[in-house]
Amino acid sequence: MSMSSFYVTTPIYYVNAAPHLGHAYTTIAADVLARHHRQRGEDVFFLTGTDEHGEPVADAAHAQGVEPQELADRNSERFRALAPKIEATNDFFIRTTDPEHMAVVQDVLSRVRENGYVYMGTYEGWYCPKCADFKAENEVDDGELCPIHHVKLGREQEDNYFFALSRFQEPLERLYAEHPEFVAPKSRYNEALSFIKSGLRDVPLTRHKLTWGVPVPWDKGHVFYVWFDALLNYYSALSYAPAGQGFWPADVHLIAKDILRFHTVYWPALLMAAEIELPKRVFVHGYLLMDGEKMSKSLGNVLDPFAVIDRFGADALRFYLLRDVPFGQDGSVSTAAFEQRYESELANDYGNLASRTLAMIVRYRDGVVDGGDPDGLLHDDFAGLPERVAELLDRVELTNALDEIWQRVRRL
Ligand code: ME8
Ligand code: MG
Repeated sequence: MSMSSFYVTTPIYYVNAAPHLGHAYTTIAADVLARHHRQRGEDVFFLTGTDEHGEPVADAAHAQGVEPQELADRNSERFRALAPKIEATNDFFIRTTDPEHMAVVQDVLSRVRENGYVYMGTYEGWYCPKCADFKAENEVDDGELCPIHHVKLGREQEDNYFFALSRFQEPLERLYAEHPEFVAPKSRYNEALSFIKSGLRDVPLTRHKLTWGVPVPWDKGHVFYVWFDALLNYYSALSYAPAGQGFWPADVHLIAKDILRFHTVYWPALLMAAEIELPKRVFVHGYLLMDGEKMSKSLGNVLDPFAVIDRFGADALRFYLLRDVPFGQDGSVSTAAFEQRYESELANDYGNLASRTLAMIVRYRDGVVDGGDPDGLLHDDFAGLPERVAELLDRVELTNALDEIWQRVRRL
């Protein structure tokens, strides 16, 4: 491992349905970072994959009359196929049904228990099977609906092992005070910190009613709650992915705001409990919206990235997503907006620049770029550009980095 290494991750996606543009979005963003750091000569590890256990997958499988494993195999393959299609250069594709991953989950969570952070208790409260999340009273919409999925919530009561999250309140507050860069953008940092400050409650670590999960080694009647299994992918993958060794801790976890609390509260607490080094930063991007609502498998309002790419190519899609939606904020996407950017910026600005430049090189320079000094004015306009772009990408400001570049395209 050289001095400079860079480890970037995407969430691992649920295999309850096929990939859509929202998943492509995060993976494309992670790929931009991975490629950029490789260009800087760093050792890079870029991880993506699928989250295959828990209720979201078990319920979807039962609804289709197939075993969870069968649904997981089928849909995991579609996520795996998405990566090359969007030209993502991930170094590994993890599946949480990989036996190596499951063994690491059992190891790490046993250590958390040996360290004294696990106890048996009873959970009583709201639960959304689509979020695989326990909801506090103040998070439940009128009519007992999940605020994200708009489905009727169940009242759950079960005996589970609990993770003593409340004991990490003070350590997490200290982490946020000492590392203001831990969560970005700032609005998400504030949101996570205020959740921590509002008082942390212990959370179920295992599920008793479910069988589709990683078995709890000290009590075979339980499987681990899918979120703890899933979060550990970022750590487990490095232990068995070819060339994965030595990259921990992660430099950037990219996520959208739907899974903020798991990554900015549960995850660092779990790592502290296991005495594992913490990741450097969680960057939270916004939602791609269609007709004003979050594009989501559960809601069924999705734009198929495969269809967009077949028509316009992966580069055009990558450009559009990072250009049109300020990275970190929500933004609407549409075929009309895509076609507009494609025409005015890719075809007119960039396409014309490229074809005129090539034609002039042939006509006035005999097809040879002699490496001579560029125009003095242009020189000034381009001075410091690589450093500026690198600085923005270090802060995961992808749209701003692209804008710096696009100003030069326009200038030329
Ligand atoms: O939450 N806009 O999986 P998931 C932007 N398995 N990004 C979107 C999006 C949208 N409309 N829809 C999805 C899970 N995403 C868990 C994660 S990680 C240890 C476990 C992207 O299939 C975005 O990155 O619901 C979001 O956080 C993720 O897909 C959720 O994918
Ligand atoms: Mg989701």
